[in-house]
Amino acid sequence: MRKLAAGNWKMNGTTGSLAEAMAVAAAHPDAAVELLICPPATLITAMATAATGTPLEVGGQDCHAAASGAHTGDISAAMLSDAGASYVILGHSERRTDHGETDALVRAKTEAAWAAGLTAIVCVGETLAERDAGRTLEVVGRQLDGSVPNGASGARLVIAYEPVWAIGTGKVPTTGQIAEVHDFLRARLDARFGEGVGRLVRLLYGGSVKPSNAAEIFAIRNVDGALVGGASLKAAEFSGIIAALEDSVG
Ligand code: PGA
Repeated sequence: MRKLAAGNWKMNGTTGSLAEAMAVAAAHPDAAVELLICPPATLITAMATAATGTPLEVGGQDCHAAASGAHTGDISAAMLSDAGASYVILGHSERRTDHGETDALVRAKTEAAWAAGLTAIVCVGETLAERDAGRTLEVVGRQLDGSVPNGASGARLVIAYEPVWAIGTGKVPTTGQIAEVHDFLRARLDARFGEGVGRLVRLLYGGSVKPSNAAEIFAIRNVDGALVGGASLKAAEFSGIIAALEDSVG
């Protein structure tokens, strides 16, 4: 399994921002880990073109569940692939909150992503109220079961554990809290898909990952990389996180 450093630019970036992505690619020409940036859809083609011949891969941040049709403003998985994406983030907490995405919808989108040959990064994570109520494992377990279709494999499924309260807040769970959830997710995937599949699905941690905390996070068992928001917008910061992930694989 190759570890994965994934950047989620969210609704940030215009053509001028491509230089940051290219600086990341240039800083890691022989990356020992997989490098991915998911820019806004408007930049996918330009980034994928610019990244040709580098280790940097490009992904989308969402796709529609249907293959095509009357869905004004939406983008299908096949369109992302056609634009140069190989990954798509699905069920990010901001999509679940801003657009009311349910587990069933995320599952349908994941099926669409797979049908288009994309690897899906399916996001799960509890709110602070859910954690405080002792419901973290129940919540992420339900999200995992409901959002991941049958037929998962290590090649086409990545899970990102992103506690909602840690996204963009500078707050990070303790190493013990991250380990507890990642161990739980691994066991749940093993139970559903068999250990041969479960152990190959990469489990990313996301939420306020920075160069200064990355090494500690990557040392946690069952953490196979990170999904990075704010710190992925600046090449120097994302590079520092990538370097920490490379160090963790030796
Ligand atoms: P953050 O975002 O790194 O800015 O906390 C992570 C994410 O939402 O994927």
